[in-house]
Amino acid sequence: MTAPAVTVESPNSTVPIVALDFWMADAALSMVDVLGSRCDFYKVGSELFTVAGPPIVRQLSARGKRVFLDLKFHDIPNTVEKAVAAAAELGASIVTIHALGGEKMIRAAVRNSGPDCEVFAVTILTSLTGADLAAVRGGSVVSDDLTPEVMRLAELSAACGASGVVCSGLEAGMLRDRFGASLKLLVPGVRLPGDERGDQSRVVTPSEAARAGASYVVLGRTVTSATDPAAAMDQAVASLA
Ligand code: C5P
Repeated sequence: MTAPAVTVESPNSTVPIVALDFWMADAALSMVDVLGSRCDFYKVGSELFTVAGPPIVRQLSARGKRVFLDLKFHDIPNTVEKAVAAAAELGASIVTIHALGGEKMIRAAVRNSGPDCEVFAVTILTSLTGADLAAVRGGSVVSDDLTPEVMRLAELSAACGASGVVCSGLEAGMLRDRFGASLKLLVPGVRLPGDERGDQSRVVTPSEAARAGASYVVLGRTVTSATDPAAAMDQAVASLA
């Protein structure tokens, strides 16, 4: 297997990751071929992983690409520890867990992640509202401003050794101010200027995410559904510089 490309990152640079949200491995790998050297980092989420399994991660690594395995583990600590270790062994450079799994689970996830795989915690899913959280917890929530929840879970994740958190571009500035360089920020929900929002409600442009301090931006349909994905990628990369 070819070693994944090592991207040299300056502390302030924002690295683009393209989300391979496809139902077929062939379609995902065709997109990788179309983007060529424009992108060295790809996200494999639960859809693609469920249809294509570990081989898709190995195929990306064999092409010299890094892989963000976005499976958002949330289980008992022992299970998550082993799942993260398996992801690291498979060659993932970033793996996600849910911060809501709690302190013991986050620490277990980090414990055997190894030197080449970073653990990122999802705080509150951007699809959830205050009312949704109240329904889950059985309490009442007066505000739909989930900022304190996001901040509290980011604090917990950082204290338990997570490398970073997944956050919306609208939360990135606040988290960067609080944590400085000690916590990396991975921002999905990114759209090129003038692009369709699709089902995302809290979108930012690549340059807005970079200015807010994003360490990584996830580029999904704004690149993969573009008429010319290579041109869209060039535009995104240029706006991160
Ligand atoms: O196509 P789009 O840019 O909306 O895709 C965003 C990607 O980032 C998807 O793979 C989605 O699952 C993921 N994601 C997200 N919002 C989060 C976490 C992950 O959109 N809060």
